[in-house]
Amino acid sequence: MAELQEVNITEEKPLLPGQTPEAAKTHSVETPYGSVTFTVYGTPKPKRPAIFTYHDVGLNYKTCFKPLFDFGDMQEIIKNFVRVHVEAPGMEEGAPVFPLGYQYPSLDQLADMIPAILQYLNFSTIIGVGVGAGAYILSRFALLNPDVVEGLVLINIDCNAKGWMDWAAHKLTGLTSSISEMILEHLFSQEELSGDSELVQRYRDIIMHAPNLENIELFWNSYNNRRDLHFERRGDANLKCPVMLVVGDQAPYEDAVVECNSKLDPTKTSFLKMADSGGQPQLTQPGKLTEAFKYFVQGMGYMASSCMTRLSRSRTASLTSRASIDSGRSRTASQSSESGIVPSGSPGHTMEVSS
Ligand code: BEZ
Repeated sequence: MAELQEVNITEEKPLLPGQTPEAAKTHSVETPYGSVTFTVYGTPKPKRPAIFTYHDVGLNYKTCFKPLFDFGDMQEIIKNFVRVHVEAPGMEEGAPVFPLGYQYPSLDQLADMIPAILQYLNFSTIIGVGVGAGAYILSRFALLNPDVVEGLVLINIDCNAKGWMDWAAHKLTGLTSSISEMILEHLFSQEELSGDSELVQRYRDIIMHAPNLENIELFWNSYNNRRDLHFERRGDANLKCPVMLVVGDQAPYEDAVVECNSKLDPTKTSFLKMADSGGQPQLTQPGKLTEAFKYFVQGMGYMASSCMTRLSRSRTASLTSRASIDSGRSRTASQSSESGIVPSGSPGHTMEVSS
């Protein structure tokens, strides 16, 4: 039986008048690769998967996902699901620094820790939402556990191991840059970093002053040592569930996500390329991502328009009718709606989102 500790967390989300706070509970379970911490929001909904998130290197579940899950229109969606936000070992707030010589789990081992979490919670299926390293970990988990993963939203995924050219570049950068600089370059584009927006300043501050920077470096090393996911477009070794790939155009991982899209089953995959969103679309464009996520879960048969408020129902109807008018045109062309998003209806489409 997995060992566990429970910690009650005070909700930080501003509440509307009359709203009661939703309990967030943090747990830890022991796994063969060490202890893993996760926070659960909401209550399990019968016959519905849990939304299960995994953050990127340099972030934790709050710094990676809070702006998205706190976004106003997102509440309409997430109230229908319990959410589980996992943190890679040593990334949770207040985590002690691992002792020297600690063997940090590989990304494959991080994926192998997930069953212990689901077993502990008694959850049978999930919709995974992952960013960067988190997207890789959830994909690896989905390859090994296709019956558990109903859908995947993969932001900034790189499904390839680093090639020797990448290694050479990485080694050279390592000679002149600190770990925090390399992680900032992984998260944000050069343009964003030199633009030095308030968001970039905030994340630079968080990463440069992280009390667990040694732990972050270990997770970063595991990320850089990842193996190829070896997706085969026409083979068995592929994701079996609906997938929404997301990347910002001009973002550091744009080419990697384009390549990943070429390897996935086009009948199950939608590709959302977001203009002006930089490297972290879930932080900079939570509204557009929320809208795309809504179509994604609706496409999976959850959240029929009848479970939405009248306001969001009418907004969806107007977008859907606009999409059906567009359906005779090439889907790969840039399309727009009042929000800049055209629902794909079915997978296999490229959606380009403008601001
Ligand atoms: C959630 O409601 O699932 C959530 C809230 C705050 C941060 C992350 C997730």
